[in-house]
Amino acid sequence: MSAPREARVLVVEDNDTLRRGICRALQESWSVIDSVSSGDGAIARISDPAIDPYEVVVTDLRLPGADGIEVLRSALERDPRASVILMTAYGSIETAVEAMRAGAFDFVQKPLDLEQIELRVVRALEHRWLLSEVTEPRAERDALRASEVLVAESPALREALDLVNRVAPTRSTVLITGETGTGKEVIAGLIHELSPRSGGPLVKVNCAALPDTLLESELFGHERGAFTGADRQRIGRFEQASGGTLFLDEIGDMSPATQAKLLRVLQEQEFHRLGGTRVLRTDARIVAATNQDLTGEIEAHRFREDLYFRLNVIRIHLPPLRERPEDLLALAHRFVDEFAHQMDRPIRGFTESALAQLRSHSWPGNVRELHNSIERAVLMAEGSRISPEDLALCGAYSGKETQGWRPELPPEGVNLAEVERRLVIEALRRSSWVQKDAAGLLGVSRRKLNYMIQRMGITHESWRRNRAPEGFDETP
Ligand SMILES: Nc1ncnc2c1ncn2[C@@H]1O[C@H](COP(=O)(O)OP(=O)(O)OP(=O)(O)O)[C@@H](O)[C@H]1O
Ligand SMILES: [Mg+2]
Repeated sequence: MSAPREARVLVVEDNDTLRRGICRALQESWSVIDSVSSGDGAIARISDPAIDPYEVVVTDLRLPGADGIEVLRSALERDPRASVILMTAYGSIETAVEAMRAGAFDFVQKPLDLEQIELRVVRALEHRWLLSEVTEPRAERDALRASEVLVAESPALREALDLVNRVAPTRSTVLITGETGTGKEVIAGLIHELSPRSGGPLVKVNCAALPDTLLESELFGHERGAFTGADRQRIGRFEQASGGTLFLDEIGDMSPATQAKLLRVLQEQEFHRLGGTRVLRTDARIVAATNQDLTGEIEAHRFREDLYFRLNVIRIHLPPLRERPEDLLALAHRFVDEFAHQMDRPIRGFTESALAQLRSHSWPGNVRELHNSIERAVLMAEGSRISPEDLALCGAYSGKETQGWRPELPPEGVNLAEVERRLVIEALRRSSWVQKDAAGLLGVSRRKLNYMIQRMGITHESWRRNRAPEGFDETP
């Protein structure tokens, strides 16, 4: 162990043996370890203006006098950046969740593993340094590498990138949220690249892609004969990611059973292979991502709140592209240059109206959609600038309506042409068969709708009446 680092830690525990044990374990690494045996004693120390505030408070939940939650409150009152780690009796997970809600940084379950406590304190301090206002001077090289992969012109993305730079050197768990195509995977890759683990593996698991038992065996591995078809031992992703980073993608789609197992690994850093008894330890750094609203999932009882708290130590949120006009334009230009070069086409940029369309489109598929649209546009463009026709952004004017709309796909599938036809008829019906208004509802031009109507062979009485005076004889 190296010399103790500057940090003030308070340990609150009424069991003497345990308290001394914890203090001894922490003393090796941290310079000031104080301890008290009661909740009231802790609160008195914490609120004493003559004593410097503690950076980390490790407290038992059940204490003589005031309880752990009250200690927690007084610590946060004294210094809102204090990290409080609660120790709870095994099985009182509800209280733990309540503690996290009250602002605890972390919780550990008894019986205690002293190594675990130390690890939690390290994390708490890392977290604090990370969020403290003083940003450590960063290597220019890292910033440069990040900007090569990532366009970040908007304040929101710059902030996200800044957090990436600060969180990368630590072992903190990171949760990346954002709609589909906003760049969550790119950010996960960067966190790994910029971390001291970059020499180790970056292992990715898409939690939505596999059914339950397969996902478990994928994550934790299995022993030979663990289930039918398990004819060989398999090393899981947790083991593979040792010394590196484990990227758990689409974490919101994980089943409750697998969530419970994952929670255990995050809590204990231990797991065993399916069908195995040997306890394995993992030191993989966890980065998780989801495009789902996890708070909503928690309310709907589809996602465990305690797991959420474990994952949500550092949150990086990527706003949708439509809320980042600076990135949108910078990305559009970068993609044009890239594709023009790749396809050897003399395309320079966009016409005024194409730019306006880029800005008004809602980009439900975000950066991925932009990338694909521009690839096609560069291929299609006839002049040196991309026009709105080249972009062919359907729904460019009705983006707002599509955002919250989720068509239901029946299990047996649909006939897309028929769906399109029904939508056209519905739009016409709703606009009293005025094609201009229906075109507006569908986000296509009048010409395009008229072409579709003809192709689909849709007719309406009112159109005939209107055309009659023009002298067309339409009676067969
Ligand atoms: N800021 C950015 N700069 C450059 N390229 C980006 C940026 N954000 C996203 N991309 C590109 O957009 C595409 C989609 O990004 P990515 O796969 O990371 O999205 P995602 O959020 O993981 O999406 P999903 O939820 O669908 O998995 C990738 O090709 C990625 O390289
Ligand atoms: Mg992704």
